[in-house]
Amino acid sequence: MGVNARTPLIAGNWKMNLDHLQAVAFVQKLHWTLKDAKFEEGSVEVAVFPPFTDIRSVQTLIDADKIPFALGAQDISTHDSGAYTGEVSGAFLSKLQCGYVIIGHSERREYHNETDEVVAAKTRAALKHGIVPVICVGETAEDLEKHGASAVPVAQLAAVLDGLDKKSDIVVAYEPVWAIGSGQAATPQQAQDVCAALRGVIAEKLGADAAARTRVLYGGSVKAANIASFMREPDVDGALVGGASLVVDEFAAIARYQKHVGV
Ligand code: 13P
Repeated sequence: MGVNARTPLIAGNWKMNLDHLQAVAFVQKLHWTLKDAKFEEGSVEVAVFPPFTDIRSVQTLIDADKIPFALGAQDISTHDSGAYTGEVSGAFLSKLQCGYVIIGHSERREYHNETDEVVAAKTRAALKHGIVPVICVGETAEDLEKHGASAVPVAQLAAVLDGLDKKSDIVVAYEPVWAIGSGQAATPQQAQDVCAALRGVIAEKLGADAAARTRVLYGGSVKAANIASFMREPDVDGALVGGASLVVDEFAAIARYQKHVGV
């Protein structure tokens, strides 16, 4: 694990899974599991990103039971309000105490044609409403072959950070598209190399202070058995977890990576 002041962030991107009743049961169970395991709140930040329809229920539970999890959304509108059928404003998310929002996930880039311009506009919308954007970047297998690992994610991040206020509070997630849901995670060294390159982009665009304080996550087939190996890398500050974030024991074990030796 790197020696730095950044609090590790273990984030569960549920994608389109779990309805609001399942979400409440899941968050309760995750909380009890971590409590039973004497998980030290504050040593690692745990965040869940449920579908929109679950957010109010999860927020109410977190609030009532004082559960130490952060809450995030999986998308945000570029607009504040108005005639945009189906869109969800950052103003509404912020009222629901969403501290984070995932922006530019490869599934949105691919299935909803989200360009770097859209990702940049959504990032500005999040910041405007006091929500920390979790900006996702990553290369496809084809990009990897053609341009190497870091060229595409570096260009994607540079396009989003251009013109942002240097004090902006952001999180960056490196998610190689070929590693998402494939069971084939990047190696810790690959993750480290790209995360370090992304930190370089943050330094270039937002300055050294921002680079030192911003958390850069790795995502793509993260599980309890490999999390510790990623977290040992100095520029990997956490993980954005998909499939394994839907299994209570597995996600709890990922959050508790400091307690197991890992591989
Ligand atoms: P998996 O952990 O299922 O590979 O998904 C990663 C991801 O896309 C998280 O945003």
